[in-house]
Amino acid sequence: MQTGVATGTTAANAVAPANTQAAQRIGVPREIFPGEKRVATVPEVVGKLIKLGFSVCVESGAGDAAIISDDAYRAAGATVAPDAAALWAAADIVFKVRAPTMDEVALMHEGQALVSFIWPAQNPELLKALAERRVTVLAIDALPRTLSRAQKMDALTSQAGVAGYRAVVEAANAFGRFFNGQITAAGKVPPAKVFIAGAGVAGLAAIGTAASLGAIVRANDTRAEVADQVVSLGGEFVKVDYEEEGGGGGGYAKVMSEGFQQAQRAMYAKQAKEVDIIITTALIPGKPAPKLITAAMVESMKPGSVIVDMAAEQGGNCELTEPGKAVVKHGVTIVGYTDLVSRLSTQSSTLYANNLFRLSEELCKTKDGVINVNMEDEAIRGLTVTKEGAITWPAPAPKVAAAPAAAAKPAAAPAAKKGGHGHGGGDAEPMAGTKLAVMFGVAAALFWLIGANAPKEFLSHFTVFVLACFVGYMVVWNVKPALHTPLMSVTNAISSIIAIGALVQISPIVGATGRPDELIRWVAGAGIVLTAINMFGGFAVTQRMLAMFRK
Ligand code: NAI
Repeated sequence: MQTGVATGTTAANAVAPANTQAAQRIGVPREIFPGEKRVATVPEVVGKLIKLGFSVCVESGAGDAAIISDDAYRAAGATVAPDAAALWAAADIVFKVRAPTMDEVALMHEGQALVSFIWPAQNPELLKALAERRVTVLAIDALPRTLSRAQKMDALTSQAGVAGYRAVVEAANAFGRFFNGQITAAGKVPPAKVFIAGAGVAGLAAIGTAASLGAIVRANDTRAEVADQVVSLGGEFVKVDYEEEGGGGGGYAKVMSEGFQQAQRAMYAKQAKEVDIIITTALIPGKPAPKLITAAMVESMKPGSVIVDMAAEQGGNCELTEPGKAVVKHGVTIVGYTDLVSRLSTQSSTLYANNLFRLSEELCKTKDGVINVNMEDEAIRGLTVTKEGAITWPAPAPKVAAAPAAAAKPAAAPAAKKGGHGHGGGDAEPMAGTKLAVMFGVAAALFWLIGANAPKEFLSHFTVFVLACFVGYMVVWNVKPALHTPLMSVTNAISSIIAIGALVQISPIVGATGRPDELIRWVAGAGIVLTAINMFGGFAVTQRMLAMFRK
C-alpha cells in the first residue's frame, strides 16, 4: 500500500525545514461527521500534490459521497489505505474537511501535521487535545482573509460561495414557477422576485445565481459598502431608511441599534409582501443570527413562496426556521438545511482541494515534498493553531499593508543623489539616481539638437507639445489607479476639443472653383455631431463612474 515514508514519523521530520528530509506523505481520511459528503482532496489535485514532491494516500471510500472512487484516486497516483487507523498512521500530513473528533485525535502521532477546519474559538478542548498530542495544526478557518495573497487558500469563501449557489437551487426546487419571465403561447409568466438578506460571500453568490436564472433580485446588508457589489452582480440594493454605519471591521458586520433594527424590520415586512423568495444569510461572527424575518412576515407572504434560511445553524434569520429541515408554514416553504455545501459535494470538494493545494505550495516552496511551517509568514502564522505541542492560537493581528511606506521612498532619493550613497539606503537608491541623471542628460542633449536645427514654426508647436506632455503626465501621475478609468473617459470628453477645428471648417470654404466647398462642410458637420457624442457621452460616463466611488 505505502511507498517511501515509513509510518510513525517523528516530530522533527514531519515539519522540519525543507531539503533535509525524505518526501512527506499527505493522508486524506474519510469524513465521519454525520451527513458530511465532502473529501479533502480530489484526483485532479492529487497529481498536483505529487508534482510538489509529496506522496498521497487516501482512505478507502473517502471520496464515495462526492462520487469519486478509490480507482480514480489510484489512477491519479495516490495509494489507498484500507481503514482510518492505517491512514492516520501512514500520514505525515493529514488533510481533512471537518475538525477531527476526539477518536481521530487519538489516532494522531507526535510530529504529524493536520490541515482542516478547526474553529479554535469554539473548540478549546479540541485545541488542548491536539497540543497534548504534540502535533502541528493549521486551521483553514483561521486564515487571515484580509491578506490578498491568502485569497487562493480561502476555504471559507469557496465553501460559502457553493452554499449561496445551492441555496438558490433549493429555492428553485421548492418554488412552483420559473425564475425568468416568459411570454409563451400558453400564457405570460412574470419573473420571480428574490430578496437576499445579507450580502456577504454566500449572499453575493446567491444574488449572482438568482440573477443569472432570470429573477428580479433585491438585496440588503447593514454594510453599505457592499451596495456596488450587489449591483455589479445584477441585483438591486435596497437601503434601510436609517443612517448608521454597519461595518464592524475586517469585512464583518456589527449588532445594529434598536432604531436601525426597527427601520429594517419595516423594510423587510414590505419586501416580504412583494417577493416570492427570500434567502437569508445575515450573520455577525460569534453572535446568534439576527432575527430578520418574523412569523408575521412569513404569514404575509404569497402562498407558494419560499424562504431559504442559510443561518439556520446559528439559530436562523427567520423565527419559524427548523434547522436541518424544510417545513411548510402559512403556505410558505421554509428551508433550513445546514448542509448546503455537502449537497454539492463534488464541487465543494474540488474547490476545497484546490485551496489546500495552494496552501501546500506556500508550505513547500522548495517543491521537495517537505513542508516548512514558517511562523514568519503572516498567512501561515495566522493558520497555525498548534505547533509541535504548543497552542499558538490566536495569532497576533496581521499588519495592514502600510501605505506610508511608499511615501517614505521619495525622501530617500535626493539623499542618494546628493551623496552618491545615502545613509543605510542600500544599493537601490544610488542606482535609481544614476539612471535618472543619465535620462535627464540624454533628454537635454536631444532638446539641444532639436533647438539648434529645427525651423522656428516647428519650435513653437514643439514647445506647446512638450509642456502639454509634462502637465498631462503630472496630472495623471497624481491620480489614484482606481480612478484611472473615469480619468480616461473625462480625457476622452476633453479630447473633443477637436470640435473647434470642425467649427472653423464649417464656415463657407471657397474651393478651386470659387464656390463654397460643400463636401468639406458636410464632413465638418459630421465631425461636430461625432465629437458632441464623444464629449457629452464622456462626461456622462465619468459622472456615473465617479458616483460609484462616492459613499
Ligand atoms: P459573511 O459574514 O460573509 O456574510 C454575512 C453577511 O450578513 C455580512 O455581509 C453582514 O454584513 C450581513 N449582516 C449581518 N447582520 C445583518 C443584518 N442585521 N441585516 C442584514 N445583513 C446583515 O458570511 P457568509 O460566509 O456569506 O455566510 C452567510 C451565512 O450562511 C452564515 O450564517 C453561514 O454560517 C451560513 N452558511 C450556511 C451554510 C449551510 O449549509 N446552511 C453553508 C455555508 C454558510
